[in-house]
Amino acid sequence: MTAYVADVINAVYVVAVIVFILGLRAMSSPTTARRGILYAGVAMLLAVAVTPFSPHLSNFAWIALGVGIGSLAGWYWARVVQMTAMPQMVAVFNGMGGGAAAAIAAVTLLGSLAVHATAGLSLAGAIIGSISFAGSMIAFLKLQGWIRSKPIVIPGRQVINTAVLVVGVAVGVVALWKVSTLWLLPFYVLLLSYGALLTLPIGGADMPVVISLTNALTGIAVALDGFALVNGPLGDAGYAMVIAGVLVGSAGSLLTLLMARAMNRSISNVFFGAFGAQEEEGTTIQGSLKPIEASDVAVMLSYASSVIIVPGYGLAVAQAQGKVKELADLLAQKDVSVKFAIHPVAGRMPGHMNVLLAEAGVSYDKLFDRDEINPEFPSTDVVMVIGANDVVNPAAHRQGSPLFGMPILDVESAKNVIVLKRGAGKGFAGIENDLFYRDNTRMLYGDAADTLTKLVQELKKL
Ligand code: TAP
Repeated sequence: MTAYVADVINAVYVVAVIVFILGLRAMSSPTTARRGILYAGVAMLLAVAVTPFSPHLSNFAWIALGVGIGSLAGWYWARVVQMTAMPQMVAVFNGMGGGAAAAIAAVTLLGSLAVHATAGLSLAGAIIGSISFAGSMIAFLKLQGWIRSKPIVIPGRQVINTAVLVVGVAVGVVALWKVSTLWLLPFYVLLLSYGALLTLPIGGADMPVVISLTNALTGIAVALDGFALVNGPLGDAGYAMVIAGVLVGSAGSLLTLLMARAMNRSISNVFFGAFGAQEEEGTTIQGSLKPIEASDVAVMLSYASSVIIVPGYGLAVAQAQGKVKELADLLAQKDVSVKFAIHPVAGRMPGHMNVLLAEAGVSYDKLFDRDEINPEFPSTDVVMVIGANDVVNPAAHRQGSPLFGMPILDVESAKNVIVLKRGAGKGFAGIENDLFYRDNTRMLYGDAADTLTKLVQELKKL
């Protein structure tokens, strides 16, 4: 009977894994991403639903309590979270994964310290899971603005960090060697400290890379835990963890590489470079800010033959995606060519602008990535920068600037640039933007939703 139940559970795990893979595949395109998330959710539900039937499982009340609290908290937070606060949520959820992996490793270590081969895997899971948990929590605190987003740099940090890691791992090995659970506590304290120390010197602008790397680490930690569990009484659940962990680990690693490439940073530069710690010195911005009225911009737009819209974080804050679509449609009716330039890290999460514009019904063939659109700026009549700042900051071309090297949208080469923002607010990286002071730039001040509403009204009059 028990063997029969185990077979059914295994069969469900296999189905769940296949659905997970189909889900991941569907997430690779914006048109099918929604379906991908649904598939992944169903796969997770299947895996979680059958696990309690595993032979040898006990403590059902505790399991139910954990699942209940987790589901309620997750459901509530996901419902109330603002789209712009999504990265913080991802950081916390990811940290929970890392923390869970580290906790599972602790349980396995306590039970199997005598079996060194299994315990070795758990130890590796504990190391990686702890680093991922602490790193994700620091990322959350920075993104939420509860601690300084700028790099927090401790003098001699490389030596201190390496020492904490080496001593932490050594303490873990001693715990295995001596078959002593007493050594596990300092081991976890040291590894968690290492995760925090590693993330504190990283600036807010590099946080997307951090989150995606800690996500990959969580996957690897879960997979290692799974390997260790396979040798225990709950072996089959271990297989499911290995596969899920490997999927998360590989997808997260790929995403990390893609994001690092999009920001022109090497992974080691992100983690060990303390990028943005020094303020740029010796650059004074020439020119002045030149405000413009909505009515003048409307005239300019209606006489243009090509317009490129650059959406950024401010568009998301203002929830002005519907208005921007209305504006683009109006211009199209006037035979103006309208394109959207999408920077990979515009906004606060990967694909933020794509999701926002898709929500408003802007068709995908109007969206162009950096490489496609950059050569078009010099021949474009009007570029409208809506709530974007860092992703159009020419300081990225200047050596010594904290943004140096980040690929940007070269909007400054357009014939006319109109910037919609509320005032003198800086971008996420906290750096002044000399694009706003250029001769061909005009500033249209106000909340993006209000300004776009005015622009639409003015255009309708023309
Ligand atoms: P930001 O550099 O953050 O600039 C946004 C601008 O929008 C600000 O200068 C602000 O100026 C303006 N703004 C804010 N609210 C507004 C509103 N209601 N109406 C009009 N304007 C408003 O945005 P970006 O260019 O999209 O760059 C994204 C940055 O976030 C990058 O540095 C990136 O590395 C970082 N980041 C990205 C991600 C991902 S994965 N996308 C995740 C975390 C961090 P005012 O205050 O003057 O209005």
